[in-house]
Amino acid sequence: MTGKLLAPTPPMGWNSWNTFAENIREEVIAETADAMKEQGFLEAGYEFVVIDDGWSRKERDAEDRLAADPEKFPHGIRWLADYVHGRGLKLGIYSCCGTRTCADYPGSYEHEFEDARQFAEWGVDYLKYDNCFRPQYHDGRNLYRRMGLALANSGRDIVFSACQWGTDSVHQWIRSTGAQLFRSTGDINDSWNSVKAIALSQMDKQAYSGPGCHNDMDMLVVGMYGNGGNDYISAGGCTDEEYQTHFSLWAMMNSPLMMGCDVRKLSDRAKRILLNRDLIAINQDAACRSPFRVKCGSNREDSYVLVKCLANGDVAVGLFNLGDSPAKIAVDLWDIGLPASAGCGLELYDCVEHRALGTVTEMFSSAVPAHASKVYRCKVVRG
Ligand code: GLA
Repeated sequence: MTGKLLAPTPPMGWNSWNTFAENIREEVIAETADAMKEQGFLEAGYEFVVIDDGWSRKERDAEDRLAADPEKFPHGIRWLADYVHGRGLKLGIYSCCGTRTCADYPGSYEHEFEDARQFAEWGVDYLKYDNCFRPQYHDGRNLYRRMGLALANSGRDIVFSACQWGTDSVHQWIRSTGAQLFRSTGDINDSWNSVKAIALSQMDKQAYSGPGCHNDMDMLVVGMYGNGGNDYISAGGCTDEEYQTHFSLWAMMNSPLMMGCDVRKLSDRAKRILLNRDLIAINQDAACRSPFRVKCGSNREDSYVLVKCLANGDVAVGLFNLGDSPAKIAVDLWDIGLPASAGCGLELYDCVEHRALGTVTEMFSSAVPAHASKVYRCKVVRG
């Protein structure tokens, strides 16, 4: 084990649950790894290929160990880890702090240390650890501490992805367990309402996220177009504009970027959204500073302006119209920390259109359609 900070910036990758639910198979995971490499996702920073719930046999084996379902994963997890590593990616797996997982497979309760050793032996690099079937009397904090300690002593660097759904004020204590990311909300589904509700629920929790431990607003639904692994996830789908806003929000709010679509069959537009290097750079900024909300010079309740200070002195400014009709959103530079006395303006670069927009002083505004967004990377310049 390296003893280094495991996830300095929000982890990026893909997770099987949104599109496949329990219907996962070895070839889907392998083909997804191929697609991530061939289509430039690995190069853009998407590193983890995570197998979610439903990968194991329904019961532990005779030695009380977890074992992969031989029909779904005929070559076993070790083989898959080698395959994924062969493409330069990392493998993630899933378990649960309770007696059973959410989809009713064996959980790791009272098996934490042996399961962590097993994952390490297989070459697993990431564990998503869910919160179902927890014995009522057992404090959740203690269970996440157990697995944090078990992974830290497993003999391998394994990213600990705590999936506690934002319950028990998880943001206040999860960092102490060693988790590198913590799910802060219930499950996302492929609908505008779900995306909006999750984003709004986390706007006041931004300060808890930072280098090495990140607020996970759940997997992305970008590019799913209603093709979820079950009815709850499908939920009708979103428009491309809504997917763009979803991605821009997750990028600005420092959430891990875990794709949930079928990467093998992506539309060109979804691919452009997910591979947007300018937005990824904002999400992956080394300083991981929390975005803050400023007033948005419109009398519309559903308009939001988020500002994130970046490591090189630039400022990212996101304008989000979460309402159902167009809005003109204005930003006062004073609110960002640039009073007229500073003698500075902002040179704006549009991160979605990928073009420079010139320099603004004092204030600027933009017309933002319903459910749409703008994200600018701004350079502080004199004059
Ligand atoms: C919970 C989690 C989801 C997914 C499912 C699998 O609902 O929050 O992200 O892992 O379990 O059963």
